[in-house]
Amino acid sequence: MKKLGILTGGGDAPGLNAVLRAAVKTAVRSYNCEVIGLKDGYDGFLAPGGIIPLGREEVRGILPRGGTILGTANRGNPFAREVLRDGEKVIIDTSNEVIEAIKKQNLDGLIVIGGDGTLNIALELYRKGVPIIGVPKTIDNDVGGTEVTFGFDTALETATEAIDKLHTTAESHHRVMVLELMGRDAGFIALHAGVAGGADVILIPEIPFRYKAILDKINRRVQSGRHFSILAVSEGAKSIEGEQIYSRAGNEIYVPRLGGIGQQVSDYIAKHSEQETRVTVLGHIQRGGSPTPYDRFLATRYGSAATRLAAQGKFGHMVSLQNGHVVDIPLAEALATPKRVNINGDAVRTARDLGICFGDEK
Ligand code: F6P
Repeated sequence: MKKLGILTGGGDAPGLNAVLRAAVKTAVRSYNCEVIGLKDGYDGFLAPGGIIPLGREEVRGILPRGGTILGTANRGNPFAREVLRDGEKVIIDTSNEVIEAIKKQNLDGLIVIGGDGTLNIALELYRKGVPIIGVPKTIDNDVGGTEVTFGFDTALETATEAIDKLHTTAESHHRVMVLELMGRDAGFIALHAGVAGGADVILIPEIPFRYKAILDKINRRVQSGRHFSILAVSEGAKSIEGEQIYSRAGNEIYVPRLGGIGQQVSDYIAKHSEQETRVTVLGHIQRGGSPTPYDRFLATRYGSAATRLAAQGKFGHMVSLQNGHVVDIPLAEALATPKRVNINGDAVRTARDLGICFGDEK
């Protein structure tokens, strides 16, 4: 193995730099292999100056840093790229150009660090002959084929701290505090932070809710003398009769932007009870900051393992955590079934045993 490429795609997540550092250090130290970094995901192959050398100097000191030193893009799909033609925006397939650019670089492997979207593109490129190795990333923890993605633990810490802080105002002002958390299709952040922070209601995309059930829970608390409640709500949660709530519609390039369910739940409670309500949307705070030790350790193991996989020529595979061990799994298998909260699993069961309401109670 003489030359590796590496890129980060999709939304940033704490731990991306730790993966880059580990992959580069392993390549240089154990394989005497050169590494190049692609700026802003797959775009780096086509943009002028989009390819930079990544050596030990470039990755020095980045372990505790959030974000990605390479930059990232979640509109950077080579199969559907927005470009200006005669003053008009059009969508074109640039995958062949990207593949040509990859060939020109004489790469022995391309490590792609990303979530569902970026890894699905990686799989398509692999099927067209690109020697891809995948590394699963996302704060949502919703990539299949692995027990956990790096970034999730840091987001969870931020979300739990937010719930702890909201408790103060909730108790002092006897209010219902609604915290809207990230989690497009999977409610791991809301579920884990909700349990860890002692929320009274948790709403997740996997369990459609009824507004009345939430109201009943809050009223029961008031009747028993607890005049405040904390609600942890995934941005992707939806009512039984409703749809997910978007703040911006999607198009061929962007998925629709979620946002607003926390406000809707809050408005309902304010309208149908005497409780005062407030909403906090934690947003991208959850994606920022220095990775936790857990995420740094996991990201480092993933990065190092990805380079070893490339050296073994195990292309079309993704590193993954299974039973606490870093192993690998074919990308196609990992991506076939996205990970979701097991609504019959012990985490949801535990929450229910503690009296936490999911809004589906009769
Ligand atoms: O997939 C990670 C995630 O943070 C989702 O939870 C959220 O819906 C989305 O990315 C937000 O993306 P953007 O940064 O484009 O607003």
